[in-house]
Amino acid sequence: GLMRELKGIDVMELELKHRLGIKGVIIVPGDSDESPLVKGELGKASAACMKKLLTGENIIAVTGGSTMAAIAERLTPELTRKNLLFVPARGGVGEDVANQANTICSNMAKNTDSKHRVFYVPDQVSSEIYQSLIKEPEIHEVLKLIKSASMVLHGIGDAITMAERRKTTPKIQQKLETGNAVGEAFGYYFNEEGEIVHKVLTIGLQREDLAGIPNIIAVAGGSSKAKAIKAYLKQAPAATILITDEGAAKRLLKG
Ligand code: BG6
Repeated sequence: GLMRELKGIDVMELELKHRLGIKGVIIVPGDSDESPLVKGELGKASAACMKKLLTGENIIAVTGGSTMAAIAERLTPELTRKNLLFVPARGGVGEDVANQANTICSNMAKNTDSKHRVFYVPDQVSSEIYQSLIKEPEIHEVLKLIKSASMVLHGIGDAITMAERRKTTPKIQQKLETGNAVGEAFGYYFNEEGEIVHKVLTIGLQREDLAGIPNIIAVAGGSSKAKAIKAYLKQAPAATILITDEGAAKRLLKG
């Protein structure tokens, strides 16, 4: 019955939290790989978690992806009794528009009746462009906001899936294969030990910045993402809260 199932999920949450060594785990029923409705549930659970953690003034840095887009759909003005500002965590022009952090932040702001900033920077830049872009006053200002974020909301992707989605060059694809990359977050690719195999050079939040951010919410579901989630969380900040689904959680607990 339903009670037993709920209890099962409670037990899984505790066990996963313990195994992964992070601040918390929230599991929604189902498997995002099998039903698109489950992503909506991830969105709903994320909205509830955000509501609990948000205090007076909040700058929320958000990455791209379809999971983040699903969260935006589930945010409501109920969150707005707080003062919110959504900012893209990293440059992300290059993804499908619907999955870009700019679009997602704009939807989040619209649905919560709050503010957002745009960050029109390509997903991948050369080091020359990088050096000149960070000198632009407007970009500099957004960067300052990102670094002072009180919350980060981010997705986790399967390494190969993300490399393909980003139209990664054969040379880098080779690097990812040789380095056994399995997971991706914030443009960093990780192997099963959570070591960085490759990093996409882009402007915005860098992994080191996470240390200074009190609330970190990672949202990723689907059994096909289990390996990626595990890899990323190996060396992720202990302050991270994972919001996932049963499909991924079951596989994570098996491994
Ligand atoms: C991308 C982010 O936009 O979305 C990645 O840059 C993340 O860091 C990915 O892994 C997740 O996408 P999805 O669609 O699986 O939620």
